[in-house]
Parts: sequence; C-alpha cells; structure tokens
Amino acid sequence: MTPEDRRPTRVHAVAPLAECPLDPLPLYRERASTRGPITHSARIETYSPSIEGWSPRRPSPVLTYPLAFEERESVRADGEVRFEWDHSTLRIQVHWPAGTHAYGLGASPGPLLRNGRSLLCWNTDAWCYGEHTPALYQSHPWLLAQLPGGGSLGLLVDTPRRLLASVARDGVEFAVDGEPCVLHRVEAESPGEVLAALAAMIGPIERPPHWALGYHQCRWSYASADEVRAVATRMRAERIPCDAIWLDIDHMDRFRVFTWEPERFPDPPGLIDALAEQGFHTVAIVDPGIAVDEESDTYRAGREGRHFVEDSQGNAIHGRVWPGVCAFPDFTRASTRAWWASLVRRWIEESGLAGVWNDMNEPSVMRTPTGTLPESAQHRGMGGGEHARFHNLYGHLMCAATVAGIRAARPSARPFVLTRSAHLATSHLAATWTGDNMSRWEDLAWAVPMVLSLGLSGQPFSGPDLGGFFGEVDEELFVRWFELGAYLPFCRGHGEKHSPRKEPWSLGRTALGHVRAALERRMRLLPMLVTAFDQAHHRGLPPCRPLWFDDPDLWEVDDAFLLGDDLLVAPILAPGVSERSVPLPKNGAGWFRHGGEGEVWTGGQAHLEAPLGRTPVLARAGSIIVEAKARLHTGEADTLRTWHVYLDPRGRAEGELFEEPGEGLEEIYLRRRIQARLHGGRLAFHLEDRGEFPQPERERRLRLYGLEGGPREAVLPLGDSFELDLESSGGSWKSVFREIP
Ligand code: GLC
Repeated sequence: MTPEDRRPTRVHAVAPLAECPLDPLPLYRERASTRGPITHSARIETYSPSIEGWSPRRPSPVLTYPLAFEERESVRADGEVRFEWDHSTLRIQVHWPAGTHAYGLGASPGPLLRNGRSLLCWNTDAWCYGEHTPALYQSHPWLLAQLPGGGSLGLLVDTPRRLLASVARDGVEFAVDGEPCVLHRVEAESPGEVLAALAAMIGPIERPPHWALGYHQCRWSYASADEVRAVATRMRAERIPCDAIWLDIDHMDRFRVFTWEPERFPDPPGLIDALAEQGFHTVAIVDPGIAVDEESDTYRAGREGRHFVEDSQGNAIHGRVWPGVCAFPDFTRASTRAWWASLVRRWIEESGLAGVWNDMNEPSVMRTPTGTLPESAQHRGMGGGEHARFHNLYGHLMCAATVAGIRAARPSARPFVLTRSAHLATSHLAATWTGDNMSRWEDLAWAVPMVLSLGLSGQPFSGPDLGGFFGEVDEELFVRWFELGAYLPFCRGHGEKHSPRKEPWSLGRTALGHVRAALERRMRLLPMLVTAFDQAHHRGLPPCRPLWFDDPDLWEVDDAFLLGDDLLVAPILAPGVSERSVPLPKNGAGWFRHGGEGEVWTGGQAHLEAPLGRTPVLARAGSIIVEAKARLHTGEADTLRTWHVYLDPRGRAEGELFEEPGEGLEEIYLRRRIQARLHGGRLAFHLEDRGEFPQPERERRLRLYGLEGGPREAVLPLGDSFELDLESSGGSWKSVFREIP
C-alpha cells in the first residue's frame, strides 16, 4: 500500500434527485460542503463488470450512489472479485480468507453473524416475521467483514435491484436481478473506519432533535382526541418520562391520508397544542396509498397531475390498503415528490404535528400474491422503467418527499421521520424500527442483533416495538423489553389493535415501577446519547456497536453490546433469568458496574446479577460518563450534570461530551473532552472545548469509582481546570487496582 493509497478519500454524497426543488438531498449536499465531508482513512475501489454496451461511466439513473467515477478509474474484475452476467442476473463473487466474519445486510431476525446465511434485499411487509422470513422491510446491499489477520472490509453493491446475498466461509456471492451494477470495495484498519467511509458515500445521518431520543408512546390506535389526552394525562400523573405521543391510522377519516376523523378528532391543532403544553411532541402516520375516491381532493389532484404509478397502458394501478382501493404516488417523479411535499407541508402547518411516520411504504399492497405492486408497473421519473427496478427505493423516495414537506413547513427545525421501508441511504432522512414483531422472548432477543446490524449497515437510528407489537405480553417480558429499549437508539412502545394494551401501566404497578425506572435511566443517559449521535453524524459510528469493535475474539457475541465508546449493556433476554455472564473485551483495564457500588471486573467474564428491575450495564475503567437529571421530557429544565469518573489503574479517566441546543439546524455546539487524573491524593480535572454553545451553568456532581471503600461523591466547581483534594475529604484513595501514584 503506497502513501497515496492511504490518502483520505473525500466523497460528497451525491444524490440523483437534484431536479426537485423541494428535495432535501441538494440541501444536504450544500450543507455537506459548508461543514466539510466525513473524512476517513479507508481505501475505496470500484469494481465493474466488463459487459459490452454497458459502462459504469454512464451509470443508469437509478444508480443510487454515483461515487465520483470521474475521479477514479474503476478497477476491472480480478482474482478476488468476479462478475458473471447472463443477461438477466449479475453474479458478483468476492473471496476472502477463511476465518473472515461477515455482518451487515440490514436487519434480519437471527444471529448477527452472516456467514452461512442467505439474505434477500427486497422490501417486504413482513408482519409476524420469524427466523425463516426471506426478506424484511428494507434493503441494505452492504456487507461489513472482519478479516482474520485484522483489518475490515466493506462491500457495497451499488444497486436498488432485488439482490440475494449468499455468505459462505470463504466469500460471498451477490446475485443482482435484471441489471448490471458496480461493486465498491472498502478496506480499512478498523470497522469504524469502514463505517466512516460508508457514511461518506451515502451521506451521514443528521443529528436528531433531542425529543426524538426520549421515550415515544404509540398504539394502533389512540382512536380519539379524548383517548390521546387521557394517555398523556396518565403519563404525567404516573411520572413516566415521555417525549412523544403517536397517532396511528385511526386518526384519519376512513384512513384517507392527510385527513382527520371529524367526530373523534374535531380540533387537531387544539389537541396538539395541549399536548405540547404538557411536553409531548405529536407524530402522526401517513401511508403512501391514496384512496381512489372522486370525493377526495387529494385523490383528484393526484389523478389530474398524473402522480400515480401506472401500468404499461398508462392507467393508474390500484391495490388495496387500509382505506380500500388505493392509487400509489410515483415518487420517482420530481413533480410527484414536490406534490407530496406540498401535502405534507400543509398538513403540518395546519395541525402543528412535530414528526411524521411513513408506514406501509414497501409499498405494501394487500390481497396480492406478492404483497406489493406488480413488478411490471411503470415508473416515469429517474429515467423510468418497471417497478422491479425502483421497488427497493420506494420508501426512500417517499421519505425524501416527506422530509422536503417538513422542511418547507418548518425551515429552521430538525425534521423527524420514522420509516418502515428504506434503502441503504435512507438514514440521513429518517429513523427506522424493526417492524411488526411479536410479544415473544425470541423477538426480544432478535432486537439486539437487528439494531446492531442496522447500525453496521448505515442506519444508526433504530429500535424495536417495545412490548412486542402482536400478542399478549406478561409482566416479566414487558419489563425486559423496556429494560433493553432504554439503551437502544430509538425507544418507542407500540401495540397492535387486537392485542392487549401495552402502555407502561398496563401490566400492573410492579411492572410500571420497573418501566418508569428504565425510562429514567435513559433520560439520565441523554447527554451520552446525544454525544453518540454526534459520532454517528460526523464519524458514521452507530450508538450501539458489537463487542467485537473492541475485541475481535468476541465475533460471535450478539446478546450484549457497547453503547457509545464506554458502556457495555448486557440485557436479560430470556424468561426466569436473574443473572448472566458477559465476556469482557480484552482491551480494557477493567469494567465497573455503571452507577454501582464500585464493583469491578478485570478480565474474562463478568457475572452479573440482574433480577427484574436491573439491567447489567458496565462502564470502562478510564472513562467518564456524564449524566443528566431524569427529566419527564427533554423540554424540562436541564440543570444538573453528574460526572461518573471511572479511574483506570493509572488513576486516569477521560470522556467526550457533545452539547447543543437540540432543535435547530444551526451549527451551535460544544465538543468537550474531560480529563481526570489522580495524583498524590489530588484529583485534577482538565476540560478542552471545541465549538461554541453558550450553555447555562449547571450544577456539577462527581461520582468517583476506582478507590477502595466504594464510590466517592462531591460537588464539583465550575470552570475548565480544577482540583479536588481527596485526602482532606477523608477516606482512602487507594486504587481498587493497585495504589495510584
Ligand atoms: C403496520 C405497521 C404498524 C401499524 C399498523 C397500522 O402494520 O407496521 O406499526 O401500527 O400498520 O397502521
């Protein structure tokens, strides 16, 4: 490898949607150029098949990631990468040494490791999915592999087409339907660098508004404004942290999108205002299917504007969804995206909604053999072509149009969209969830690898329906769902219409107490979550990472994970269990129980007690975790910071903290490095700040771990450099590891 090879590759995400004036993607490009793109040390090579009459230099308009071909010659296939094109399927084979561990390819129930599995990228409404469900809601044609001798590999198959990835011991074969494409091969020393390169290629996620990191309460459905108010009132009366209440399909008039049922929701802005006064943001659902109804303005405008997906004769294609027979916007068309954006804009301006939920956008079509539009349906934007070519981009393009509408309604706020269907680059438009899971222990266990895998596949912001969507849940499973969910990027309770209720109080007082405590733990961790999301934004690092990020020997572990740089979460994922072990990454000096009584583990395995109400979370020796007060919602006064300082054997600790207002688009922030060092009984702190965020002076408290006799507590002075005299405050300052100088 030459020095030239190691030169950081600077890539702007370029998107093919520039023609739409309301599209957010040009906006993203503009902002990327003022902020500077993500830099990384990975080497990216582009391999293309040699097919007569086809050239990667003139990529098809559906090519989602036109990765600066003008800057780089693409590499022809050689020994390691082989292409085979038989005029209908492109087979791409990539070989790697035995002992390589492969991950990624989006979410799938089952283990995190992909070796020995076949995964299909074909967006599918996969309700009640299980281990044998061939394809879920999203397509992430991206694989991340850890090589046996060290080093990481990323493979991006640059296509929105249906793709089957078959992962073996010694390599992978991607079978791409219908159209040739190129393969981008990314190589770097660490998985983090490979993910930084991926974020540079697809566009990194935007920092979410802070309220989106709080707890969200949903149900299919809160069927009237009165019911919504009652849920909100109870939430506050029970003192359960909650930032958002969601309106599922029953808020609509006969499921017609962008409408409100007039009897049950007579005054949407009044309701949404009242909720806002109690500190709740309101998010409502919108599906792509538009009821074929001549009485509906939306339908008529869509028909008159020829905004719907058509058949080869030019007739709009109809299919059944919740409202009955529907037509489906052709989001490949710039003018259709602009039309949809204008509908979203008006909806938000008139109601005051804070966020939008894009659902059923695979698109899901009921009572059909394939569950979606016919593959022969015709799209007329982005170069045009049959649905098979655009299917996997349908949800992505719907999100682009939705985000454009939100931005138009609220130009200075951070948009929040949750989407079910997505493609690899959707993460900079929307968060996601893992779809219609079930209230079963196996679904709880799958949630960990599914969220981790989405993070390894370019989508750092995800979570499961807490409690499980379908079915009845018992007290123990319900509490364990929330105990896990409190540490996942997206934290929302949801439940299906015919299933028993799943609000935090639905399983009795004991469960309620545990759920409240779990959500309070999340709220305390908010500064750390905000910091982790900043890392996702500027380094492509997901908040939840597998343990093998720290120690390659832990390649198989997918029932525990790292949260941010320094926490290790070991949730309970099985019934009747009140303790567990977790292997510890070898690269740490030791691990403390986070917020505990000073217990420390220095190697091998940690055995942890975890009765209901307790989730084992460890903090790395040498780290500083900054926590806030457990507020009821992110709009409440944020007056306290508790610094948990976990000394390493040298008496040192260090942490990173990102602070920002959390709402607007301006680049106002503070990136703070906090260093602590114990010497001669004195604990010295030093802060290094980058950026400017005129934050209020908050009370600072210290909880110091690593000294004999348990954690020490103190109030800390404000300022950037200060010392504490531990001797004068009494107690021992001998290290639990050995004596600190
Ligand atoms: C789909 C969604 C689910 C939602 C339901 C009704 O099944 O995945 O979350 O509650 O539709 O809108």
